[in-house]
Amino acid sequence: MAGKRTVKDILLMKGGQRKISMLTAYDAPMAALLDQSGIDILLVGDSLGMVVLGLDSTVPVTMEQMLHHAAAVRRGAANALVIGDMPFGSYLVDVRETVRNGARFLKEAGCDGVKLEGGESICDEVRALVRAGIPVMGHLGLTPQTAGQLGGFKVQGKSLEAGRKMLADARALEEAGAFSLVLECVPAPLAEVVTRGISIPTFGIGAGPHCDGQVLVTNDMLGLFEKFTPGFVKKYIDLAPQMKEAITAFQDEISSGMFPAPEHSFASDEDFSSLLED
Ligand code: KIV
Repeated sequence: MAGKRTVKDILLMKGGQRKISMLTAYDAPMAALLDQSGIDILLVGDSLGMVVLGLDSTVPVTMEQMLHHAAAVRRGAANALVIGDMPFGSYLVDVRETVRNGARFLKEAGCDGVKLEGGESICDEVRALVRAGIPVMGHLGLTPQTAGQLGGFKVQGKSLEAGRKMLADARALEEAGAFSLVLECVPAPLAEVVTRGISIPTFGIGAGPHCDGQVLVTNDMLGLFEKFTPGFVKKYIDLAPQMKEAITAFQDEISSGMFPAPEHSFASDEDFSSLLED
């Protein structure tokens, strides 16, 4: 697909032959690389807290940090739809504050929409955002902002009862106006049922092959985040060891005097050593 992606384009890709691609981005140069590679959606995830800011969870991430990084991603992305993740606490107080915060992602960062974690319990907020003209992506299954309540970073929806609740949450989000939703750490057969049971696209992350699209944290799939790698991640390249090799080579070459060589230096015909004689 060529040209700038819109929410309508993404909706039209539901159930299509081509799966929709989404990756996370946190800065302009990476956003440009992803955009030039044809990724449909760049998610400025609050995974920012862990993979970029060195925090232990997504909970401390602030609105200001999200807006700062989302604006950089927008500057790097010409064609991809850019979605800003609303951080923990930014959509929990009341509907008015939720809309105020959601609008900041569009006005200040240039995002095309926002993502929120939760099901039926956040549908008033989703409805208000959509009424205000802010496209919303939902997020069900393992919701990292409330992982503690879910018993940690574990597969969700393992029982029939939990599956029924997830389908009800998905339908509630669709009814509230969400244009798509992420299913994280969900058994593949349940993700398939949820995908078939709603008319908006689903994005799987650890949710099997039947979703309408797939999303991964870019730093995980490029092998840039070494602290831990969830079992559902496929590393398409292992960049961290290669980067360390290059950095060690720099360290060795400046120690030995091999760098900078004449081609990395600026010559002059002037005799500057005469300055020391003044
Ligand atoms: O914050 C994030 O990166 C996410 C993805 C894992 C979907 O929510």
